[in-house]
Amino acid sequence: MAILVTGGTGYIGSHTVVELHAINQEVVIVDNLCNSKIEVLDRIYQISGKKPKFYKVSVQDEEKMREVFEKENITSVIHFAGLKSVSESVAKPQLYIDNNIGSTKVLIKLMNEYGVKNLVFSSSATVYGLAEHVPLRETDPVGGCTNPYGQTKLDIEYLLIDYNKQHKDTNIAILRYFNPIGAHKSGLIGEDPEGIPNNLMPYITQVAVGKREYLNVYGDDYDTPDGTGVRDYIHVVDLALGHLAALNKLNENPGLVIYNLGTGKGTSVLELVHAFEEANNIEVKYVIGPRRPGDIATSYADATKAYEEMNWKATHTIVDACRDSWNWQKNNPNGFDK
Ligand code: NAD
Ligand code: WQD
Repeated sequence: MAILVTGGTGYIGSHTVVELHAINQEVVIVDNLCNSKIEVLDRIYQISGKKPKFYKVSVQDEEKMREVFEKENITSVIHFAGLKSVSESVAKPQLYIDNNIGSTKVLIKLMNEYGVKNLVFSSSATVYGLAEHVPLRETDPVGGCTNPYGQTKLDIEYLLIDYNKQHKDTNIAILRYFNPIGAHKSGLIGEDPEGIPNNLMPYITQVAVGKREYLNVYGDDYDTPDGTGVRDYIHVVDLALGHLAALNKLNENPGLVIYNLGTGKGTSVLELVHAFEEANNIEVKYVIGPRRPGDIATSYADATKAYEEMNWKATHTIVDACRDSWNWQKNNPNGFDK
């Protein structure tokens, strides 16, 4: 009896596999390694003393995926596999549609064929689009996504809602992540972006380690306390634990449920930079630049639903996340490439 974790060698997936191992849950990973490294498996082993079964397969490949479902006794699925770069999705929208939506279609087809009822899906706060107010609640309007990546997440949410209506005995948790940062405290796994990081925290750590000269702060004229963008940064280990809580919830046969996974607190770009400097006693050079197109001023979660219904809440602080991100980066200046 195993949990199938698609995208399990990726950033959030690898941290979730470690937490699944910690509760003695058998894990099967499917990942095509398009945005992760095989070395992650050794690192998971170093942390948990267990090696998950691994298939280097694209979830889009129905035949190969059928072999996995045939061989393994899968009880539930956590579906992380997907492409996530906002800028790449603007340049190659069809790639994002094919990969993200296509892989989810294959997955639910096979789950139906093999009688696997429980699915946890990685959605994103990006589905709230140009949010009109904060904190964001699960009942707030979705849509108006500012890029094709976000649109694929919303389209998949609708696909899963339809699937659940047609298959009333299925249980699906749609988890809308806010901004994951941090790393496992061992420093053995963490975020390892390809090329120039799009996201704030890996950019900060690469400046701190000397790989980039300075951070570009994208605008200081937003309607926020210090003028820089405000986000809900959540420690990746808290996020991973949110998936375990969701799996438990699905065992209660709730049907389709949607939860924000965030801390409920907003932090500005400059607050994060200064928290990082203080936590690690290291300077992060920055330059204030123009706004990044498509960015919104403020986004943070109302995280009460996940607490009330799954008994889950984030416990790590921003300082914990800054310390753990730096511990990962300084011990692995080139990520998983030795
Ligand atoms: P990641 O890129 O580190 O992990 C995704 C993994 O999926 C990678 O290992 C990649 O190789 C794999 N993958 C992609 N397409 C695949 C396919 N067709 N078949 C098999 N494997 C495939 O990203 P992450 O940050 O760990 O994100 C995990 C999920 O959470 C993604 O779906 C992402 O969209 C979503 N998400 C991420 C964030 C974030 O900021 N990191 C925020 C909200 C939602
Ligand atoms: C955070 C803040 C930037 C980089 C993105 C996706 C979203 C989700 C998470 C997957 C903003 C500022 C950033 C830099 C900066 N991913 N910034 N300099 O934009 O909230 O969300 O990742 O679902 O879909 O859109 O995260 O980390 O890119 O930016 O000043 O070099 O940091 O303007 O205010 P974002 P981010």
